[in-house]
Amino acid sequence: MAIRKIALMGNPVLRRRARKVEDPSAPAILRLVEDMRETLDDIEGAGLAAPQVHEPLRVVIFHVPAARTAVEEGGWDGLVPLTVLVNPIVEPLTTERRLGWESCLSAPDLIGAVPRFTRIRYSGLTLDGKRIERIAEGFHARVVQHECDHLDGVLFPMRMTDASLLGFVEEVRRARQDLDGIALDGAAA
Ligand code: NI
Repeated sequence: MAIRKIALMGNPVLRRRARKVEDPSAPAILRLVEDMRETLDDIEGAGLAAPQVHEPLRVVIFHVPAARTAVEEGGWDGLVPLTVLVNPIVEPLTTERRLGWESCLSAPDLIGAVPRFTRIRYSGLTLDGKRIERIAEGFHARVVQHECDHLDGVLFPMRMTDASLLGFVEEVRRARQDLDGIALDGAAA
């Protein structure tokens, strides 16, 4: 196991479409996921996609930490344990999008208000090739959309509809009173 270096915004690996994984139980994939877990744990993020550690493969990991379950954003999901998804698919279950703050381990110090679908269904494979399917709302739905976007070369600023709501974390948190109405739940992902 090893902590991997995070690719930063501007690196071409973050802009390309990641490849489908043919065999989720292949030793190289197991090693990659072990390293992703260790990297995410070290950096205390909510989620990580393989391209962020320079591997252009369709693999994401995420969790909804206990601290985040206290922050409601249109729904209560409770704690979601660390989940590994290979070749994930996301389907919106509503046309409603809601703005929420997001940050990204590949864009350190930046935070932006990003519209995301409030309710989704997602599916994918586990490392033993079993299919997972879940319905998610709120922060859970947001983190999954953010991670899966990484597999298509999309970073959160590219999803923003109001670029004036992109800023440095420290300043945005300080100005929070001016930005009421947008859930300040942006764990880095
Ligand atoms: Ni990210």
